Formats: sequence, structure tokens, C-alpha cells
Amino acid sequence: MVDEGPERVRIESAAQRLRDGHLVAFPTETVYGLGADARNIRAVAQIFALKGRPADHPLIVHLARAADVMAWARKVPDSARALMERFWPGPLTLVFARHASVPDAISGGQDTIALRCPAHPVAQALLQAFAGNAPDTGVAAPSANRFGRVSPTTAMHVQEEFGDRVFTLDGGACTVGIESTILDLSRTESVGPVLLRPGIIDLDALAAILGELPRRPDRHAPRVPGALAAHYSPATPLRLVAADSLAQAPTDVAVWSRSVSSPRAHRVGWERAPQNVEQYARELYAALRRLDTLGAREIWVERPPEGKDWAGVTDRLERAAFGSGNPS
Ligand code: TXA
Ligand code: MG
Repeated sequence: MVDEGPERVRIESAAQRLRDGHLVAFPTETVYGLGADARNIRAVAQIFALKGRPADHPLIVHLARAADVMAWARKVPDSARALMERFWPGPLTLVFARHASVPDAISGGQDTIALRCPAHPVAQALLQAFAGNAPDTGVAAPSANRFGRVSPTTAMHVQEEFGDRVFTLDGGACTVGIESTILDLSRTESVGPVLLRPGIIDLDALAAILGELPRRPDRHAPRVPGALAAHYSPATPLRLVAADSLAQAPTDVAVWSRSVSSPRAHRVGWERAPQNVEQYARELYAALRRLDTLGAREIWVERPPEGKDWAGVTDRLERAAFGSGNPS
């Protein structure tokens, strides 16, 4: 997709914008990111200003290649090397003890740094064009949405969030659809690997490489705003409901259900959600955005199945429900 002439020119001009200290929104396989040169403090400050994000919330730095981690992390355990080998490029973010050269603004004052090498061809092309041969360059990027809101999975969603205020590379709809899995490896010796945010990666696949299941965060774990109880939220109040309660859904409530079809009298949107977890994750945020525009009194989402592979989407839905109902 990025080999053609005009696409190449677009990527080059986006990389130049980053070098000039401007923001660029770009697709990754998880969600769209709002990127800035991670070594440019003024550029990074623009991310916080545009998103309305508190300054102590750290950012993920996106790298062109795994070999660049040493410019950002001061200690990379063997387990991390094995994980990078298996999952990079891909939807896995690793948290390390940070290198002394990392600007404070990136890590929210914490002693750690979150790194990810995304697989999307447009993200890869942008990162490579931006980095050239320099290992210490990277693109800091949170999801390209206003703070607390639903993450964007298309260029159109980014436009809905920020209008024409940011240059956006369009790479189509994201194939994963929910944010990366975040694994903290900064305290492997004392605590072991800690799962800070579940995503689409199967925890058993992580365990197979780590030799143990990652732990749940304790009170010493790095702070993760993606782990705030309220996040990823539509403006319409959202509720997670059991399948057998859907029959009682009022007709002015929008519904997203895997197992129950719309009764004939239902007035507002009633959509069938995908059966398969990959497809479900891919469509989730677009569905929340769509259902949020219907003027429904509430959005009812059928609670997804229990089970490790549904942990990522269930996590997002629970936070979406907690933070919903605050129009802005
Ligand atoms: O899939 C993704 O991860 C997307 C794409 C654009 O890469 N990015 C993303 O960024 O979701 P953001 O900022 O919306 O969420 C990143 C999460 C935040 O909850 C942040 O607190 C956490 O990563 N994080 C960043 N740096 C960290 C660090 N040093 N220690 C612990 N958590 C960190
Ligand atoms: Mg986010």
C-alpha cells in the first residue's frame, strides 16, 4: 500500500511534519495514534493540549524496529527479547526502566518508559521515514481521541475528534480495533511481569514465552490512565446487560447484542455484534460511536462471554460504562 508514488510522498511529508515539531495522526493496527517527535518536548506538549490529557499521564513511544529499544530503556530483560521476537511488530506494548535520556514529559515523571513497534504498514512506513538510521528517534502517540473518549479506528473518527486541526494519514479501518496489550517488565526481578492493560493477545501465548501468567497490577505498579475506571466512553449512558435481560430493553434504548435479534417493535438502533472476539474487537469502537449518535436514552451492550480471550473487550466495555453519560 505504501510503495506507490503518491503514498510515498504523503508519508514523507508526514515525517517532515514530525521533524518540524508538528502533530500527525496515523493508523496503527490497534487504533489511530496522535503522534509527535518523542524527543521534542514542545511537540509532545501539543499532544497533551489537544487531547485535554493530564500532564502526568505517560505516553507510549512507537519505534521503527525492536533494535532501537536500547536508546529508550536502561534494562531489557531476556523475557522482553523473547516477547519482541514473537510479537513485534504488533499490538504489544512493553514497559521498561527508562533510559536517562528520555524526556520527563513522555513518562509523566515515572521511572519507566512504554515502547511499542506497530505492525500497520502505514505506521511502519512513517516510523521508518521519520527515524532514518537514527536509533534514538521515536514517535510518542496516545490514541487520537479527546481524553476519556472512545478511541478512533478510522481516519474519519480522528476527524470527528479534532476536525481539521491535525494532519491525518488515512490507512483504512484498524484491524485489531482495541488498544495494545500493556505488559510491565520494569520489575521482573522483584515482582515478575505485570499485565497493565489487556488487549487482543492471548494471555496463554504470553505465558508460554514468560514461563508464567502475568500478574495483576499491585499498588506499586506504574500508573495507567487507560486503567482509570472511567475511560473509552460514549456520551450516551452505556450499560452492560445479560442476554436474558435484553428482552426487556425499552424501545428508546440502543442495543448491541451478540445473541438476541431486534424485536419488531424496537424503535432505536438494535445491532447484532460479531460472534468472534477478533471481529468483535475490530467493530467495537465504531459501533459505540454509531450508537452514540442515535439520540437513544441509553446504550445497552450484551455482556461478552467470560474467558481470557474476551478480557480486552470486557475491560474496555466496563470502563466505557463507568465513564459514560457525560456529553462534552
Ligand atoms: O494501541 C495502543 O497502545 C495505542 C496506539 C496508538 O499505539 N496507544 C494508546 O495510547 O492506547 P494511550 O496513551 O491512549 O494509552 C497508553 C496507555 C496509557 O494508559 C498510559 O498510561 C500507559 O499506556 N503508559 C504509557 N507509558 C507508561 C509507563 N511508562 N508506565 C505505565 N503505563 C504507561
Ligand atoms: Mg487512549
